[in-house]
Amino acid sequence: MDRSAAPQAYPPARPEVENLQAYSAPLEGRRGLLRLDFNENTVGPSPRVVEALRAIPAHHYAIYPEYDGLREALVANLTVAGLAVPLEPAQVGLFNGVDAAIHATVHAYGAAADLLLTTSPSFGYYSPCAQMQGMAIEAIPYVGDSFRFPLEAIRSALTSRRPRLLLLCNPNNPTGSRLAPERILELAALAPQTLIVVDELYEAFTGDSVLPLADFKATPNLLVLRSLAKTAGLAGLRMGFAIGAAAVVDRVSRVTGPYDINSFAVTAAFAALQDQAYVDAYVAEVLRAKAWLGAQLRAAGLRHHSEGGNYLLIWPRLGAEAMAASLRQRGILVRSMAGKPLIDGALRVSVGTLSQMQQFWNTYGAIEGLAGPLEETEGEKPQQGPL
Ligand SMILES: Cc1ncc(COP(=O)(O)O)c(C=O)c1O
Repeated sequence: MDRSAAPQAYPPARPEVENLQAYSAPLEGRRGLLRLDFNENTVGPSPRVVEALRAIPAHHYAIYPEYDGLREALVANLTVAGLAVPLEPAQVGLFNGVDAAIHATVHAYGAAADLLLTTSPSFGYYSPCAQMQGMAIEAIPYVGDSFRFPLEAIRSALTSRRPRLLLLCNPNNPTGSRLAPERILELAALAPQTLIVVDELYEAFTGDSVLPLADFKATPNLLVLRSLAKTAGLAGLRMGFAIGAAAVVDRVSRVTGPYDINSFAVTAAFAALQDQAYVDAYVAEVLRAKAWLGAQLRAAGLRHHSEGGNYLLIWPRLGAEAMAASLRQRGILVRSMAGKPLIDGALRVSVGTLSQMQQFWNTYGAIEGLAGPLEETEGEKPQQGPL
């Protein structure tokens, strides 16, 4: 034994964890500012959620959370939206946000040296989850200036490389790229050996969900992720769902703790799922604001990309980092995409209400020296359909 070696200051973690670049997002000091940096709901949840939370008696805090009826409530909510094949409650997994669902799915399915196939650029938490497991990652770039979904390349990687997992963000964060649900079902049928996970956090804004068409008996290798963070306004309470074949949902749920979702999130989720009208009205307002902002950007001749989701990309003349810093000084948060493949130089701007986007645009225009805004009624051209 070499007694001269310095003692280790701490017990090292697994090599995958020692080498991990953890997902890091600048999450501090955001209160009181106009937050257009995390694609959150910018006005808060339904008043019914607030009422339900206020009605929780204090002695309930002392009891472990109970989840009875929540899967049924989600199924009822999804059924109203229309499903070709009815869902059973056992086909719904409950998670502490979709982040936890992604982590659990990769934990349950990805062994060391297995392949995770995904697209690039996409949501930043997929890769760290795969790296924790020691998985290999292949991220196929979006195509061209309009960031088209790389369908041919994904098809060919599915058949030639036989990945363990395919993670698709649809619409994609941050490019907004959309893939038609029919194409997703085709991919699932093409690669029964691969678990195809579709992160649908932003589907509500363009209606791209695969759920209305899904038949999890025919394609048990399909798993759909939904959250109450972005549309229902519960990002701070954490509630996410994984929907798929009951056996897959069961496997993914095995790697979570028994009480990972807290009682407040459960109460809020029941109330939010029963007030779909509130979510629908918020989505409609975001779409109106997005169309208005798109028209300003076109009139100003600024490079931008606006497709699915409650966000869009803008390439400021000043540069992304400098513009993000200037906006922050003026009380507005946006996300710089500096260093991201294909979209280096862009800002991702979350879309809130029309008045919030008017505030954003006035401030942005003053920094870039642009002319004043167009009239409110001038909207963006109708959006194209997904690939
Ligand atoms: C594509 C995507 N998936 C998942 C998440 C995390 O969702 P949740 O807040 O439900 O954990 C986000 C949050 O930004 C996201 O953009």
